[in-house]
Amino acid sequence: MTDSRPLPHATRTLSARDGAAAREAAQVLRAGGLVAFPTETVYGLGADAGDARAVAGVYAAKGRPAFNPLISHVPDMAAAAALGDLSDAATQLAAAFWPGPLTLVLPCRDMEAVCDLARAGLDTVALRVPSHPVALAFLKEAGRPVVGPSANRSGHVSPTDAAHVAADLDGRIDVILDAGPSPVGVESTIVDCSGERPTLLRPGGIARADIERVLGHALPDAAAGDAERPNAPGRLASHYAPRAKVRLDAGAVAPGEALLTFGGVLPPGAEAAGTVLDLSPSGDLLEAAANLYGALRRLDDLGATAIAVVPLPREGLGEAIADRLGRAAAPRPLIPDGD
Ligand code: TXA
Ligand code: MG
Repeated sequence: MTDSRPLPHATRTLSARDGAAAREAAQVLRAGGLVAFPTETVYGLGADAGDARAVAGVYAAKGRPAFNPLISHVPDMAAAAALGDLSDAATQLAAAFWPGPLTLVLPCRDMEAVCDLARAGLDTVALRVPSHPVALAFLKEAGRPVVGPSANRSGHVSPTDAAHVAADLDGRIDVILDAGPSPVGVESTIVDCSGERPTLLRPGGIARADIERVLGHALPDAAAGDAERPNAPGRLASHYAPRAKVRLDAGAVAPGEALLTFGGVLPPGAEAAGTVLDLSPSGDLLEAAANLYGALRRLDDLGATAIAVVPLPREGLGEAIADRLGRAAAPRPLIPDGD
């Protein structure tokens, strides 16, 4: 599907250290181009959410199945309120966590500013106000909602720096706006506020417990969608996948395995492992989240064929890390189903 797409002209990388870069990138986006942009979670592949042709280009560049709806990014609450109906709960969550790594699924108010293809035909819209200063500058200059799935080929690990984006999408997109590593490192938490009670569609950069504190009650998981129209396809099994086979909760390292560890833990067999990467030697889950995707890419680059992962704590960001590692370890589908 994707390889038949003619490659656009050479991808340009613009350094965000250059004060004019965000404006230049926004001009390319407004003209219908594809722009990878930094956020605090991961890099997004941006296009004008109201331009169906540009959005189709995002699906094509990623090789993403067309039934997967995309998140639209806006610079502030006012822009979000013009696009989605914010319930009281949604307003509370937006006030507490925007700008930041939270995405809200809301009834859509403007079916043109976020086109059908961007919503995959749903009458809801996923909205996020990121906190990364370069993302905010870029979105303000764009002056319209910007779709932004992670800027990787479908089924690959999400990019947490500009080099990861280039490795997957060089020659397929117009611009990479480079602002260095993404500080959070896992995608936003997605909360569905389109129904009667908020539900969790995807764990992410904001811990469930922090959301529950603001809501004043428990945040249940969303009921699983059907296979044709999953309510958050990001929850499908194999996703965020490195090439290597991943084995979770390893109490020992088998011969031939690389080791992905945390907090300096060295299980039996570690001394014979060819490669040992520690997500956070000090045992800090924030640092582990920020390092996760880079570590999986690095293990691929080093040629690891099997990775043993030590058990990690599940509290706070540990839920999102466990979710992504679970996908990395899931049996692989024949066609990529991830985003
Ligand atoms: O941190 C993030 O959220 C990153 C950065 C770039 O902002 N973006 C990201 O977007 O992860 P994406 O498109 O890779 O993931 C969007 C998820 C998908 O699982 C998609 O199915 C779900 O959000 N989604 C989007 N619109 C939806 C809707 N209307 N209803 C339910 N789920 C939706
Ligand atoms: Mg993604």
